[in-house]
Amino acid sequence: MDEQGWTAVVASAIRAPSIHNTQPWRFTAGPDRLDVHLDRERALPVLDPTSRQQVISCGVAVEFAAVALAAAGRATEVELVPAGERSDHLATVRVTGEREATEEDRALLAAIEQRHTDRAPFLPRALPGALLDRVQAEAGGLGVWVKPIDRSEEEVATVFLLSRAEEVEQGDPEYVAELQRWLRTDAAAEDGVPVETVPSEDPATRPSNWLIRDFVVGTRGVHETFLPEGDPAAPPPEVERPTVVLLGTDGDDRTAWLLAGRALGRLLLRATVEGVAASPLTQALDWPATRTRLRSRLSLVGYPQMLLRLGYPSVPGQVHAGRRPVADVLRFTPA
Ligand SMILES: Cc1cc2nc3c(=O)[nH]c(=O)nc-3n(C[C@H](O)[C@H](O)[C@H](O)COP(=O)(O)O)c2cc1C
Repeated sequence: MDEQGWTAVVASAIRAPSIHNTQPWRFTAGPDRLDVHLDRERALPVLDPTSRQQVISCGVAVEFAAVALAAAGRATEVELVPAGERSDHLATVRVTGEREATEEDRALLAAIEQRHTDRAPFLPRALPGALLDRVQAEAGGLGVWVKPIDRSEEEVATVFLLSRAEEVEQGDPEYVAELQRWLRTDAAAEDGVPVETVPSEDPATRPSNWLIRDFVVGTRGVHETFLPEGDPAAPPPEVERPTVVLLGTDGDDRTAWLLAGRALGRLLLRATVEGVAASPLTQALDWPATRTRLRSRLSLVGYPQMLLRLGYPSVPGQVHAGRRPVADVLRFTPA
């Protein structure tokens, strides 16, 4: 693969979602390999002190690189590097030969460009069962389970822990300060979460059981927080009922986090191909206390890594979060 080829592959890899759009990655490309590194200078010490969520983000970038290589007619092998000796080298995507790119490869590549996190309410329309079956099978191939949260007692327990975690976060000035450091008001920003992509209303006032992360906490006026808009005599709005899935792994080490990221990347692209949007709801997984309680309340064998709402978009033409240029994150090693 030449430098131009790798530039195109990395342009796809960096479309990966990342916690607070930190884009915590660096890449080095050689003739037949792409190494993916964790960039610790972009860490979130309050929200993600173990870098678990940043490693998951890098796992998605690994998967997107593999998808781009497949669509470019390359056969690949992915090697995950176990944690050790403080190494930031997470994974290598190795080109092992050529192959015929399929229609499906091209559809997944197109989905990388189309996908974005959609935090608006979803339409009241069930997802096709075949989509869930397929993402469960693909994730299973990577050792990752995908559990729909569809039984009412599981939903109640998960919603409670999510709300509790959000409440703890909003009361933590260090958490709020870190969140505000990654919120962007400039639409052309190359990283961070653009304010146009997060709802301006308080998520707690939304008619939904599932509380999305509040990115503008601390900046909203009291009247905006407490006074619902509209006619007080109008019937209550329909409650949003998105599909919510939990991704998890048997272990909880760096390899497990990378596998969770790869499975998440695959799932998001399959969903996008089907016209289905997603947004993570990871507040309950940010904190050891709520994450541990989620394990016990849902009787999970293994570790929850990602909670995700899925559904059909209700708001077309949304703003996409920016990315740093490829040249800032890619280095070439001599042949
Ligand atoms: C591990 C991980 C955790 C995330 N957690 C949340 C979350 O709790 N709430 C949310 O709204 N978005 C969450 N996101 C989405 C990111 O904010 C989003 O990917 C980033 O801003 C880039 O935007 P994009 O996905 O539209 O490209 C998460 C993403 C990842 C990879």
